[in-house]
This record gives sequence, C-alpha cells and structure tokens, in this order.
Amino acid sequence: MAVSAAKTSSKPGPKHNIEAVRQAYYERIAKSGLKPLWKVMDSLVPDEPASRAAPVIWHYADVKALVMESGGLITAEEAKRRVLILENPALRGESRVTNTLFAGIQMILPGEVAPAHRHVSSAIRFVLDGEGAYTAVEGEKAFMAPGDFVITANWSPHDHGNPSGKPMLWLDVLDAPTINFFETSFGEDFEEPVQPTARQDGDSLSLYGSSVLPDGTEIKNRTPIINYTYARTRPIVDRMRRAGEIDRRHGARVRYANPFTGGAVLPTMGAYLAMLPKGFRGEPYRSTDGAIFVCAEGHGTTDVGGKVLEWGQNDVFVVPPWTRYCHNAAKQSVLFSISDRPAQEALGIWREGA
Ligand SMILES: [Fe+2]
Repeated sequence: MAVSAAKTSSKPGPKHNIEAVRQAYYERIAKSGLKPLWKVMDSLVPDEPASRAAPVIWHYADVKALVMESGGLITAEEAKRRVLILENPALRGESRVTNTLFAGIQMILPGEVAPAHRHVSSAIRFVLDGEGAYTAVEGEKAFMAPGDFVITANWSPHDHGNPSGKPMLWLDVLDAPTINFFETSFGEDFEEPVQPTARQDGDSLSLYGSSVLPDGTEIKNRTPIINYTYARTRPIVDRMRRAGEIDRRHGARVRYANPFTGGAVLPTMGAYLAMLPKGFRGEPYRSTDGAIFVCAEGHGTTDVGGKVLEWGQNDVFVVPPWTRYCHNAAKQSVLFSISDRPAQEALGIWREGA
C-alpha cells in the first residue's frame, strides 16, 4: 500500500501541472513588469491593519545620558541639529518611530545656536528639560519651558538658541516619513544663522489664543500659535479632572486646536494633553493612528497589545496603529501625545474601537 501511495503522489498529476504552468506564467509576465494580484491580495488588502511598528519605550535617564555625551562630540552648529533619532526597533534603518512619523531627542547647550533653515516637513517639539532656550519661528522668538508644545509648520523658517546657563532637551516629532512617502520634500538653509525676530515671546498665543483674531487674518489649515505653553494648558486639564470630566479611556484630556478652524494644529499631526488621576485604570482603546506618548508628570504603566510599558517623567513610548492599549496611573500623571490622526481623518480612513 505504502509503495503504491508513494508512487501515486510522486507522479505529476493535473494539479501539479497547473501549478507548474502558473509558475512559468508568473515568471514570464514578470519580464513585462506584471504580477498577479491574487498572489498578494491578503497583504495588500488585509482584514484589519497590521502595523510594522512595535510598542516601545525609551526611558529618559538612559537617553539623556547618551544625548549629553553627544555634546562633547559635535556642536549644534556643526550638526545643524544635534538629535538622536528614536528609531523603532521593528523599523531599523528607516529613521522613524512609526510608519508615518519621525521622533528624536534634541539637545542645545548653553551659548549654542542651531542655524536657521526650513523644510516641507512640519515639526513639533515637546520640551523635556531646561529653561530659557528659544525656538524662533516666523519672526517670533518663543522661549521654552518643560511641558511646552512648540510648532514649526510646513516651510516655516526656524532656528534655536540657548542663552540660558543649562542644556535644554526636547522631543522632536516630524511628519517627514509622510512627506517622503509622497516624495514632496524640499528644504533650504539660510545664510544668516539667526532669523530676525520682530515679535516677542508669546505674541502668537496672545494674538490667536484669546477668542479674537487680527482683522483680515488669512484662515489656514495649520495653527498660527508657535508655543502652547504648559503653564497655560496644564491648569485646564487639572480643572477638568477636578470637575470629574474624565474620559474612561483617555483621562481628563484636551486636544490642541488650530484657533482658525477648531481643527488639528497641523494637517499631518495632532496633539493631546491628558491628566490621569491617581489610581486611574483606563478602559481598553485602539485607533488607526500611531501615537507617541510622553510622560510630563507622574508614574504609571500602559499595556500596549499585551506588552506592559512602565513610564515615569519624560519617558517616551509608542502605541502602533490599531494596537489595543490601556493606561494605569500609579500617581496623578500627565501624558502628552501626538499622532497622525488629522492626516487619516482628512483622508476619511481614521477609525477607533475598543
Ligand atoms: Fe528643522
């Protein structure tokens, strides 16, 4: 019996023939730049999102020590930007933290200048450490303090300087992978390392964040505010917490808004600030935007797809798209987050679920 069965299976049958014929066909059409859709349909149109990014956390104490070390190796002016990239371990060699976003930790030492330039990629900064360094954007010199959320939108000239006596470190997040996906990246350096600044610190927040707009203002799809200061935003989430306005998934959370439209601060990236009361145990949540979280205050854990990330002040962690997560706060905590949600919403592809 066994001999006869072996004989049968080794004999080329009709099925074997059709596979061989198909394979020969695939090889032949490949020479004409063609490929059968039916062989790749499942990966091209999966039943649900399958992110390439991994959940990951960077602990600030480790990262800070390594960034400080770079201060002895290269100046901010030489480097143009002294940044260590937070590269997702599942996306090695791609200079990105999620499929659509870049993240890095930037440092500027006392007396240094990071020279003026501009690019199509929009950038946000979330200040981690130090006080009194500035980002100059579109003529406004914004002095930065921990928890401040500073924006340099698409093609805005920007430079940084640190007249204070202490190093300043911040998280940079850019939409560069998205811009490069479209292959639409332009950039240029300016001859003068420092741009002229006619506007004072806080001008744009005062002008555009006070329920009035300068008459005749052109409405844009990105915020005109340069620095959403922590001093102004934190008391708002604290008031929400005290009033019991606490989302069961996200805590007492606000969305940073473009005062022109009420929409996101940038067309490609949106940001939130959330206060989690002590003992908060968040309900599970997932959405199709990949998010980068920073702990501004406190201590807790986030379960991201079954992986528990334990965070403290200034730690940065990633929740990949469509990965279920829930926050737990051991003590009262504040989380800043940024994601590509506005881009997905503009395209009509954003979804959320439990
Ligand atoms: Fe830049």
